Amino acid sequence: MTATPGEDAVSQFYEAHPYPPPVRDLDAYARAWAAGSRRRSEHLRLWPSLPFRDDHAILVAGCGTSQAAKYAARYPSARVVGIDVSAASLSSTRGLASRHGLNNLELHRLAIEDVESLGQSFDHIVCTGVLHHLADPATGLTALRAVLAPSGALDLMVYARYGRTGITMIQEYCRLLGVQPGTDEIGDLVATLRELPLGHPIRHLLHTTRDFADDDALADALLNPREQSYTVPEVFDLLAASGLRFDRWARQAPYLPQCGAISNLPHALRIASLTLVEQFAAMELFRGTMTRHSLVAKRLDDVTPTVSFTAQQWRTLVPQRVATAVAVEDRLPPGVAAALLNRAHTDPDLILFATSAERAVFDAIDGERACGEIAEGGGFFERLWWHDLIVVDASGARGAQSR
Ligand SMILES: C[S@@+](CC[C@H](N)C(=O)[O-])C[C@H]1O[C@@H](n2cnc3c(N)ncnc32)[C@H](O)[C@@H]1O
Repeated sequence: MTATPGEDAVSQFYEAHPYPPPVRDLDAYARAWAAGSRRRSEHLRLWPSLPFRDDHAILVAGCGTSQAAKYAARYPSARVVGIDVSAASLSSTRGLASRHGLNNLELHRLAIEDVESLGQSFDHIVCTGVLHHLADPATGLTALRAVLAPSGALDLMVYARYGRTGITMIQEYCRLLGVQPGTDEIGDLVATLRELPLGHPIRHLLHTTRDFADDDALADALLNPREQSYTVPEVFDLLAASGLRFDRWARQAPYLPQCGAISNLPHALRIASLTLVEQFAAMELFRGTMTRHSLVAKRLDDVTPTVSFTAQQWRTLVPQRVATAVAVEDRLPPGVAAALLNRAHTDPDLILFATSAERAVFDAIDGERACGEIAEGGGFFERLWWHDLIVVDASGARGAQSR
């Protein structure tokens, strides 16, 4: 089942409503990624035990209007291939490529299901917001697995079931009324959304996600001809059906019972006694508001070691703070020197309270020194890692060598 460009309902939808809303230039984006530490941090999220590189072969699958151009701008030494079924989206991307002289970017109007026809393999595959629109997501993911290099990493985002309950309801409402994604229809829909009761499950999403930022985004969220959403166990089933294994969540703290409010409740211990997938599933149910699952997947036969803070290893890990980690000093409980948090988290309870000794350790992290050179114990580093405040270099190579 292939989404023949131009024929499939989803393909036609994205021809008329390219997503995300096209951007004029990537100047601010390129500036934000100019710092080597940001690219290194991203490398450590994907391949903590492999030496730093930023010249990978990257596939942006279902690249939309700008994502492939962003990756090409972010990694000038990489070879980036973008594929999409929407000619309008590819045309926006081409505009960005010529404006910014992105000679490292190649674009194809091609369905994910047919990606093997490129005859190439990729170290890094990015597929966000796409698979859940395919007629058969497992077929698409299996095709991506076939072009993933042996120690490659796949950045995947699919819609999450429970947090999208309000969206599913309004989608159903639109289907009942036969609302079509035309300009007048969107205007009427916007007027209707404004009058929804305060307690409606979609209300909190209307102001907090970019999905409702403009007409095309609204159409993408509510009038898409085909989509499905996944619970945590269903995500794991999808990976297994496609020959892939879970590596990590893009941001892991929301899925961990040892982070946030639940960690201080009696249920934390009971959740911790479950299998890992059950723990993640329990946290999805507890949080109730996750609208997407973003994760890194690897090939089943990839045996590259993952991060571990065991007694033998923690000393040699080289920690690096992530760009969005901050230390806040306002309105702290007694005995606390700082509230450490990742500004990219949307759950307000994901705070790590630090004593003054821990604050000093956090401040001493420079991407150069190993944990064993900064502190006496590994426990605090592991908590920083759980809370998405640091990534770690487990390659044995020092920060300076690996840049
Ligand atoms: C919601 S947009 C996401 C764009 C981009 N990944 C991002 O996150 O900005 C979904 C994109 O997937 C594309 N798409 C849908 N089905 C596809 C398929 N079978 N093969 C390739 N692209 C597809 C659409 O044309 C659209 O551009």
